[in-house]
Amino acid sequence: MIQRTIARRVRGMDTADGAGVKLKRVIGQPALDMLDPFLLLDEFRSDQAGDYIEGFPDHPHRGFETVTYMLAGRMQHGDNQGNRGDLGPGSVQWMTAGSGLVHSEMPQQEAGLMWGFQLWVNLPAADKMTAPRYQDIPPGDIPVVQPAPGVTVRVIAGELEGVSGPVAGIATQPVYLDIALDAGAHYDLGLPVGHSAFAYVFDGTAARVAGESLARSELAVLSEGDTLSLAAAEATRVLVVAGRPLREPVARYGPFVMNTQAQIHEAIADFRAGKF
Ligand code: CO
Repeated sequence: MIQRTIARRVRGMDTADGAGVKLKRVIGQPALDMLDPFLLLDEFRSDQAGDYIEGFPDHPHRGFETVTYMLAGRMQHGDNQGNRGDLGPGSVQWMTAGSGLVHSEMPQQEAGLMWGFQLWVNLPAADKMTAPRYQDIPPGDIPVVQPAPGVTVRVIAGELEGVSGPVAGIATQPVYLDIALDAGAHYDLGLPVGHSAFAYVFDGTAARVAGESLARSELAVLSEGDTLSLAAAEATRVLVVAGRPLREPVARYGPFVMNTQAQIHEAIADFRAGKF
């Protein structure tokens, strides 16, 4: 057993995106540009409608995947190919943008709490121009595992104690777990060797990750290993995500993530020409 440790700590940075949605950017900001294969992690959380009501109107993506995990509130997704989907509490949308699409993500409520995450996962060079694909997963399709007393895990992607999450066929073989620990609970979580991994505390104030305290809104980049020790003195929720690093060149311009600058120029030209 090789325990993963905290290699680096990063605090979410307050910013806004879309048409002015306030959020915390944790990956994809000066303190942590990326964590191969993860390009971005945002947490949006507000019960003030003004912080989210303008949503994310039409915008393009090419060359990677966007993963939306809703904890509270409702958004509606729609794209220029006619795909529509509702994102309600506890649901996940794993969108492989591939060669490109134009979509919007708009709130379906005028008051109340809106809370969730968006993660961007890179695609291998060979898959960047693949056809767009959606995996829309309702909350009831996400298995819940209780691997230890007081520990409840929603397995969104990857495998835990022999139970596999519903997200399938992703090149980076991701693990995406929402882990709730009751006060006093602890658990040694197995993680694939060689995967980049992080833990992000999103609820509770007394999390211990790899034997160290981790504050809410703080992300731990984890060292290599096969086991992560988690504990909590009070009720806590932690997102643990891991993925196979691609180790390929990254050329990035806003919603386009390719391997070369020439491919970025091509993406911009294709988008302007209405080819998405
Ligand atoms: Co988007």
